[in-house]
Amino acid sequence: MSIICPGKKIAICSDHAGYGLKSIIEGYLESQEIAYEDFGTYGTESCDYPDYAHPAAVAVEEGRCYPGIAMCGTGNGIAMTLNKHQGIRAALCWNVDIARLAREHNDANVLVLPARFIDPADALAIVDVFLSTPFDGGRHERRIAKIPVAGE
Ligand code: RB5
Repeated sequence: MSIICPGKKIAICSDHAGYGLKSIIEGYLESQEIAYEDFGTYGTESCDYPDYAHPAAVAVEEGRCYPGIAMCGTGNGIAMTLNKHQGIRAALCWNVDIARLAREHNDANVLVLPARFIDPADALAIVDVFLSTPFDGGRHERRIAKIPVAGE
């Protein structure tokens, strides 16, 4: 698989609801010899997704990691948290077409998965597409440049 930014580690994070899927994705990344940095959580004990999403978001914003993969039960809480960061474009994706468009049109830099509502096999297919689809650029450049809130 060709990944969108070889040479950087993928930032990966979840809460307890996403922990099982995170482990599956990490196993897959290892099988593909794709490096990642795990920002937690590290077990199934109940926890708060922002505690893991913020450090992962900062690592992507600062360019230490790229891209990110994040998951919680629905994907919404962790996506909301990630998208509070000006440099983050986190896309909640539940099928491969949405994942492809999140890269082509939105230059998404974090893939978010709804762990309680997706089969692991589908999740891995989404990861594959997300990691191998380039940004289309063109008219989409102008649009993503307008996403950040001015002055923040
Ligand atoms: C945890 O129960 C759940 O609320 C969380 O994983 C996520 O779905 C929140 O958006």
